Amino acid sequence: MNSAPSRRVAGKVVLITGAGAGIGAACASLFAREGATIAVADQSLAAAQPVVEAVLAEGGQAAAFTCDVANRASAEKLIPEVVARFKRVDVLINCAGVTNRNAPPDWDWEKVWDFVMAVNMKGTFLLSKFAVEQMVRQGGGAIVNLSSIFGLVGRPAGIGNGLDAYLHSKGGVAQLTRDMAVHFAKDHVRVNALCPGFVYTALTKKLTDDPATLKYLEDRHPMGRLGRPEEIARAALFLASDEASYITGACLPVDGGYTAQ
Ligand SMILES: NC(=O)c1ccc[n+]([C@@H]2O[C@H](COP(=O)([O-])OP(=O)(O)OC[C@H]3O[C@@H](n4cnc5c(N)ncnc54)[C@H](O)[C@@H]3O)[C@@H](O)[C@H]2O)c1
Repeated sequence: MNSAPSRRVAGKVVLITGAGAGIGAACASLFAREGATIAVADQSLAAAQPVVEAVLAEGGQAAAFTCDVANRASAEKLIPEVVARFKRVDVLINCAGVTNRNAPPDWDWEKVWDFVMAVNMKGTFLLSKFAVEQMVRQGGGAIVNLSSIFGLVGRPAGIGNGLDAYLHSKGGVAQLTRDMAVHFAKDHVRVNALCPGFVYTALTKKLTDDPATLKYLEDRHPMGRLGRPEEIARAALFLASDEASYITGACLPVDGGYTAQ
């Protein structure tokens, strides 16, 4: 592991939800290389454990935690568990998230809507609420939420049915970001969101595995390609680090130009 003095989150304790896969796992790896201690939280311990082992193998520090972010009791006990292990929580990255595609096919539309809202919107709210209480006690911190291009714009006409909880939840995450940013600025807690375009992860695999759908999605992004998890992680690192010391309440597109058109 590189121990150069330029490491951008050296000494910080970074809690990442949904860190067992995709963007969260990429954040765990990058933040560890930049000097942070990582609390790798996921609903699946089996997913979190290999991410921890990869960090430890590179000489970093990390531990796995199980948490269902949509469950109040589970979310509430995560913060004291991380503090008991690592003394503090300097950064929270809210990566846990689902789409309609994660719901069993036999669920009716209302159950699917509730499920997506519960994980993406309520889960981000619960973790942020409990983490910010800890950060205020500590004297500050930073939260990075995962919104989406679909927290900023609707789907192109002809796609979807106009009733998609994913968009509703990600718009809610953007507003939660602004609401918390304004209120907790006085407590030295910065709250920002990333709005990624389509990124190659398990979340989008059903779409990207289909060549016609992949081509359609590539064409929607002016850069002509989808994003990689590490490209989103690099933006998270910037917003979480002291380099973004005057940035709060921002919803930053990381989308190959998708929302610029
Ligand atoms: N992949 C994309 O194209 C894309 C684009 C924009 C925004 N995002 C957002 O980025 C975040 C990460 O997405 P990803 O693509 O890495 O997804 P992913 O499916 O690869 O990983 C999500 C992780 O979250 C965990 N998780 C799901 N529900 C949970 C719960 N209730 N409690 C705790 N953990 C839970 C899963 O076990 C998994 O490890 C999500 O919020 C997603 O909406 C993704």
